[in-house]
Parts: sequence; C-alpha cells; structure tokens
Amino acid sequence: MTTAEKKVTRLEVVEPKHLDFGKKWDYAPSPESTDFVKIAPRHELFIGGKFTKPKSGSYFKTINPATEETLTEIADANDADVDAAVKAARQAYEKYWSKLPGSERAKYIFRIARQLQEKAREFAIVETLNGGKPIKEARDIDIPLAVAHFFYYAGWADKLDFAFPGRKTRPLGVAGQIIPWNFPLLMAAWKIAPALACGNTVVLKPAETTPLTALLLAQVIQEADLPPGVVNIITGFGKTGAALVKHPDINKVAFTGSTEVGKMIQRSIAGSKKRLTLELGGKAANIIFNDAPIDQAIEGIINGIYFNQGHVCCAGSRLFVQEGVADIVIRKLQDRIQTLRVGNPLDKNTDIGAINSKQQLQKIQELVQTGVDEGCKMHQTACELPKKGFWFAPTFFTGVAQSNRIAQEEIFGPVLSVLTFRTPEEAVEKANNTAYGLSAGVWTDKGSKIFKISSQLKAGVIWGNTYNKFDPASPFGGYKESGFGREGGLQGLMPYVELV
Ligand code: NAI
Ligand code: MG
Repeated sequence: MTTAEKKVTRLEVVEPKHLDFGKKWDYAPSPESTDFVKIAPRHELFIGGKFTKPKSGSYFKTINPATEETLTEIADANDADVDAAVKAARQAYEKYWSKLPGSERAKYIFRIARQLQEKAREFAIVETLNGGKPIKEARDIDIPLAVAHFFYYAGWADKLDFAFPGRKTRPLGVAGQIIPWNFPLLMAAWKIAPALACGNTVVLKPAETTPLTALLLAQVIQEADLPPGVVNIITGFGKTGAALVKHPDINKVAFTGSTEVGKMIQRSIAGSKKRLTLELGGKAANIIFNDAPIDQAIEGIINGIYFNQGHVCCAGSRLFVQEGVADIVIRKLQDRIQTLRVGNPLDKNTDIGAINSKQQLQKIQELVQTGVDEGCKMHQTACELPKKGFWFAPTFFTGVAQSNRIAQEEIFGPVLSVLTFRTPEEAVEKANNTAYGLSAGVWTDKGSKIFKISSQLKAGVIWGNTYNKFDPASPFGGYKESGFGREGGLQGLMPYVELV
C-alpha cells in the first residue's frame, strides 16, 4: 500500500467503491422555446442613438455554433464608421453627458438595468443561440450578473465624491471598449456601466462571433432614451477594433481578450495620452490540500474548468492536488465527468454547450494533441457529440509535467491538467510558475491556510473553497501577462476617472 492510499483510508470506508456511471440517467429533452425571439435578417451599427447602415456597405454572417446555421447578417464597420461613432460619442460627451449631475446619469443607468431585467429571457436565449453556451448559464449567470452590474454602477453615479476620500473625480471623455465572445453581454455591462456612471461616453465593439446581445442592448439603450451618442455600438472584426484603438479622439481604451492582441494594443497607443486597461488570458491554479472537503472540491473543479466550455479567462485549468488525496480526487473526477451532459445548448439540462467557433475548436484540438503526444494520460467524458456544430468533450489529463504545453498555455476549452504536490511551498511555487496571474482557488479545511497561501499566490482573484464566483461589488483583474486594471467594485471606477 502506498502512503497516498493509507492516508485516504477513512474516505475509502465512507465512500462507495468506484461507481459505474456507464449507464447515465437520461432526462427527457427540455429545450427552451425560442418562439418569441425574432432575430432580424440584418443588423446595422448603433451610432448617435440610431441604427445606421455602415459606410463600408459590407456585412458578415453570424452563426449558431451549435448548428452552424446562419442567424443574421451584421454590419462590418470600417474606419469611416469608427470615426462616425467616435464623433457621436464626443458630441454626446460635450453636449450632454459631462454636464449631467450624477443623480441624473444614475436614472438612465437604472433604467437600462430594469429594462434588461424585464427582457432577461430574450437576452438569455439570444446569448445561447449566438455563443453556444448552455441556456442554464446564460439564464442564471450571464444575464443576471450583467443586470447586477448596471444596478451596482448606477448606484455609484451620484456618490463619486465619496468614493475616494479627499479627492474629486473627473470623467476622461470617450472610452473605446473592445470585448470578447465568452461572456458577450456580461463583458459589455462590465465595460459600459462604470464608464457611464463616471460620466464618460462609449464606443463599444463586441466580438465578431457574438455581436447579437450587444445589439439587443443597443435597443434597450434606445428605449431607455439615453441622449444620442452616449453609447455607440459598432460591429466588425479585429480591424474595426484596431481602428477604434488608434482613433485620435478617444481618451481611454478598455480591452478584454487575448494576450497577443492586448500587447499589440499597448504598443499601438504607446506615447499617446490614452489611458488603458487590459484583461487578458489566464492559466489559473486550483489547489486542493489533503484536508480539503473533497466532494465540494470536485464540484469546484468541475465548475472551475467545464463551466462555459472552459471559455473563461479565470478558468481553473491547472489542478494541483496534494499527494495524499490525489488518487481519490482523480477517481472522483473520472466518475463526475461521466455525468456531464454535452449537447443542445438550449436544453435546460445541458451542462456543456458548443465551442464558440471553429477556430477556437481547432486551437483546443491542437493543444490537446500536444498533451497526448507529450505522453500525458487523457480522460474524457464518454458521450456522443452532435454531428453539426463545434464540440469538445470534457477532458482532463493526468501525468502532466510543469513543462508540458497543456500546463503552460491557455487552452480556453473544457480541458484540465492535473498535477500533484507534497508541501504548501511546492504548491505555491508551481502555481506561480506561469506567465499569467488572473485567478486561483484554494481548498482546505483551515481558514488560516487559505489566507496564508493566497497571500503568496500571484493572482488577482483568489477563491477559497469555491470557484468562479462573481459579484459586481468585488474587483476582478490580473497580474503579469493577465493584464492590469480592475473591473467591478469601487476599484472598477478608477479606470474611468481622473482624480483631482
Ligand atoms: P482576440 O483577442 O483576437 O479577440 C478579442 C476581441 O478583440 C474581439 O472583439 C476582436 O475583434 C478584437 N480584436 C482582434 N484583433 C484586434 C486588434 N488588432 N485590435 C483591436 N481589437 C482586436 O481573441 P480571439 O482571437 O477571439 O481568441 C484567441 C485566444 O485569446 C483564445 O483562444 C483565448 O485563449 C484568448 N481569449 C481570452 C479572453 C479573455 O477573456 N481574457 C477572451 C477571448 C479570448
Ligand atoms: Mg484573435
């Protein structure tokens, strides 16, 4: 008997032997109805309070990644469109928004929050159709959190004088904001709500694969009667984003996306007076100690990496297990992933939806192949994947070394690398051995250990005995190549104000 086995004897007694999940319980299909959601065949740009045709004259298709069906056509903004949007934002800033007292700005932001809340079901369905995420996540996480962000920052708009004691705040002007495809509406809320609360106007560019909820939000903003130009939403690819970043009349750039593009943006605005915040990738460590509540930890691991198909910058993609519980954690993980339901994102029982794009699927496949080639042992959910669309079965690797690519690079898919450690010092050293530093998780029975370990981890957000928990009052952001600046909470006001 190895030491590891001896240490888990107590657990062996109370836990059933390796469970046979071969015959998975099946639920009857329970798809969310999409009847009342009408997606127009074509979507224009939202500039100066109106939906306007792009000067570029060109459109691109947006699809449902679960079926590969085209949902609608989206305007592809060129430099002239970007310029029109920035001009509208500048005018709105000079003419209305910077002149309104905070209490008046708050009314508009509260109105957006309430309207979003009323349309939550429609938003959740469109998010799922366009992004591929399970409806239960869009419904229970993305949309409610987006609403909560608008409510939260609406509350700050008339209290900015009390946010930073002894200092007053001044808005920056026009903010250019670029967001990714993993949490389309939520990222729009994270960007727009604090900017407006602080008195800035906005030009936002959603990701090319998931523009639909941002455009629905544009409708809400129109209905909320915001002064025209306070929020402008322009759609397009990386080129549109680059034009926005380079535009001479924006005062602030906020970007969430790949580290590669984040670095390009930083280079391209170097020497200008534009303020910048970057929220980039991650390779988070989820650390399980011998004294951790194992079943809770298993759920935390599952939530940490398989939530939203692993399309999460703070995903717990590296699992560090202390040797005494490594065997039981791996065995339980093997069992648990067999119960995950992969398939139709609109089905209310689906745990794992579609991968957001063909390009992202290829990246996941390539990196997983390197794991296999480098000799790591792969474990996967045994399930049949739909024929159409982009899918990847929940996967984890054991026998992973620190130097393997799957332990170093961001996969951004439902793929976990399991490594082990002996001492807390070793856990910290291994966890910090990454270019990133966005988030981490610590699982132990001892509160004091959570505090001690988290003070040594180089990560912006650290969860104790839980994972992937978000709240608008709590700041989020990274270290090192994960970026800089915070979103959420009081700290989330800082990137949008000048302190005077
Ligand atoms: P990306 O960084 O290319 O795209 C994110 C946003 O930036 C999109 O709106 C895109 O149109 C825009 N963009 C692209 N090139 C730009 C440029 N030169 N200037 C300004 N804006 C530009 O990310 P992509 O290619 O979709 O994903 C690649 C990898 O990045 C993923 O596999 C993942 O590892 C990581 N990623 C991280 C995210 C995070 O939340 N931190 C979100 C999305 C991707
Ligand atoms: Mg890219």
